[in-house]
Amino acid sequence: MTDCLDTVAFRRHAHEAVDWIADYFESVENYPVRSRARPGDLLKALPDRAPEQAEPMGRILEDFKRLIPPGITHWQHPSFFAYFPANSSPPSVLAEMLVAGIAAQCMLWETSPAANELEARMMEWLRDLLGLPREWRGVIQDSASGATLCAMLAAREKAREQTSLDKQVFYTSTEANSSVHKGARIAGFPMNCIRSIETDSHQGMVASALAAAIDADRHAGRTPACVVVTLGTTGTGAMDPLEEIGAICRRENIYLHVDAAWAGSALILPEYRHLLEGMEHADSFVFNPHKWMFTNFECSAHFLKNPLSLQQSLSIDPIYLQNTRDERITEYRDYGISLGRRFRALKLWFVIRAFGAEGLREKIRSHIRWTEELAQAIQTSEDFELVTGPNLALITWRYAPRGAAPDTLDELNERLLKAINDDGRLYLTPGAVDGRRVIRLSVGQTRTEARHVRQAWKCIQDIAATV
Ligand SMILES: Cc1ncc(COP(=O)(O)O)c(C=O)c1O
Repeated sequence: MTDCLDTVAFRRHAHEAVDWIADYFESVENYPVRSRARPGDLLKALPDRAPEQAEPMGRILEDFKRLIPPGITHWQHPSFFAYFPANSSPPSVLAEMLVAGIAAQCMLWETSPAANELEARMMEWLRDLLGLPREWRGVIQDSASGATLCAMLAAREKAREQTSLDKQVFYTSTEANSSVHKGARIAGFPMNCIRSIETDSHQGMVASALAAAIDADRHAGRTPACVVVTLGTTGTGAMDPLEEIGAICRRENIYLHVDAAWAGSALILPEYRHLLEGMEHADSFVFNPHKWMFTNFECSAHFLKNPLSLQQSLSIDPIYLQNTRDERITEYRDYGISLGRRFRALKLWFVIRAFGAEGLREKIRSHIRWTEELAQAIQTSEDFELVTGPNLALITWRYAPRGAAPDTLDELNERLLKAINDDGRLYLTPGAVDGRRVIRLSVGQTRTEARHVRQAWKCIQDIAATV
């Protein structure tokens, strides 16, 4: 029987696992980006029941190598242009390995002071790198979905001073991420108090429509409680007009949360700081280093103007959590949904130091530049149409070959996207703009180089000629 607690064997297998990871980094480009697995493929290869007897780790690792990679969609492939990236990088992986080894549960300062204080410092580093207000405080959440939900809970708590929960109204745009609409439901806003505000021709929220909706709700005796604006919508990368909406929220005393899940990383570039104009009116802000800052999933940076508002809505203080008390300590368990907390700050520490702020800026700037070059190529091509963008490193486009009847284009683009994703050399996502079917392309993978973006364009043209 193998001894799964044997550290000599662990050392040997860990070296083997690291070799596998390094080989994977070197060869990930050779895989089809999207997994070719069919439903049930892995299930068929797995035994029905758990083993009674211990199995040797060598065999488990061999099975991993044989069975798992074919069922993986390779988010770390340099030609992954779908969704938004979910990045990783060697420093981040190293930190995750160490965290797995330490396996601390960091729910309280006392249950791992280093995790707690590293989190505090990393949030300060990120806050300053992005140019967020210096008095704001940050916390690492598992996801933008979770951070936005917490923001809504804080907003509801604040509005409770004025009205009952069933009269509170929530506003976001029709282009907000699905997690925002879902969060509003989980936070308990009644279905008839959730407003999706129209967007303009650039897919940003129409501020005057928001103001009108707020007026109408006040006249009907309801209380506008929370607005979520998006910087960098999922569909097209659009920016809601933060300054205008911020002024409305300030005037109306409404909690304002900024969802910059993807676009937030670009704020480390001074040339995009203008996107933060109006931020002084906001109450909270979230962005995901696990999207576009080379840090393993999950790592979502949530910043708050007044952390007390969140603490008041989430803090519960049973006897078993009443340990070290010190006014210098921030207890992050009061800032999120789960009690247990992973040590997520370590990967940020490793990533920010290993890249350096300049290295991070250079990478993100390159992604944006290559997207602009691609957009230019699409725009000048006679058979393709650039539909939106570039918004940072996201464009939407469609195939519109000369002579094709406009009413056939949706179906044509659907077929083209399927053909591209089946081909395996790159991976893209569908979208819709003004009721027309488009194809989204987002550049931002850690290993993407200019040549991958150029190859993607060539590949798109070649496949388009065959559909
Ligand atoms: C704008 C925006 N907000 C929120 C989310 C949800 O992010 P998470 O998966 O971290 O919850 C996404 C995901 O892509 C997004 O694009």
